[in-house]
Amino acid sequence: MSTLNNDTLVIAIDGPSGSGKSSVSKAVARELGAVYLDTGAMYRAITYSVLDAGTDLTDAHAIAQAVRDAQLQISVDPDAELVKIGGVDVTQAIREPRISEQVSAVATNLDARAELVRRQQEIIKANTRIVAEGRDITTVVAPDADARILLTASEEARLRRRGLQLGGSQNDSQLANQVLARDAKDSTVVNFTQAADGVMTVDSSDLDFEQTIAAVLDAINTATKN
Ligand code: DC
Repeated sequence: MSTLNNDTLVIAIDGPSGSGKSSVSKAVARELGAVYLDTGAMYRAITYSVLDAGTDLTDAHAIAQAVRDAQLQISVDPDAELVKIGGVDVTQAIREPRISEQVSAVATNLDARAELVRRQQEIIKANTRIVAEGRDITTVVAPDADARILLTASEEARLRRRGLQLGGSQNDSQLANQVLARDAKDSTVVNFTQAADGVMTVDSSDLDFEQTIAAVLDAINTATKN
């Protein structure tokens, strides 16, 4: 399998928040002439919509039903981010701290996960070359992917990156809540802190953006070499 021609190619990338997954995965997709699927955006869009509808976040049945009913559209163009739910453009809104703080209510709902995994697998199937990133892509959504990578980074590096991304608008405890507390909650249903069998780990703690992209492309080349 070559990563450079038009063969089918599925790349699965998992990692905790602040590991640089999204920006690195987008850049890798561009490099490989592939589309890009941000599965976290799907969890975020559902969270936006249940909050908007005033649904009680502790009502697991209501959340599961909301996912099954959701009219969810997501762009897979790495250069054109677009997420719509019920026809409403929520591309920007799903990045707000209030969503980051509450998204675990959806991510830890097993029925909601099953439905989102099903939709993610459909999107992967519909595209010839795709880089999909999230928390359970290497293990649940695409365990047969051509390359499976866990992108990690130290706690310190992750907090620093997320803080920069949010433009210094969050204090230390808000940041820790959005990064570490969220990961701790999400870890109760998916393992994205240790690489599963056959999954390669790329640690980006001491790498800059370009170096991380190069390390991920390297791992993909190794995994896809005949
Ligand atoms: O990557 P992100 O921060 O946009 O993800 C948002 C939330 O969705 C995060 O709390 C974990 C969850 N998530 C998940 O459980 N499984 C995925 N495949 C992707 C995201």
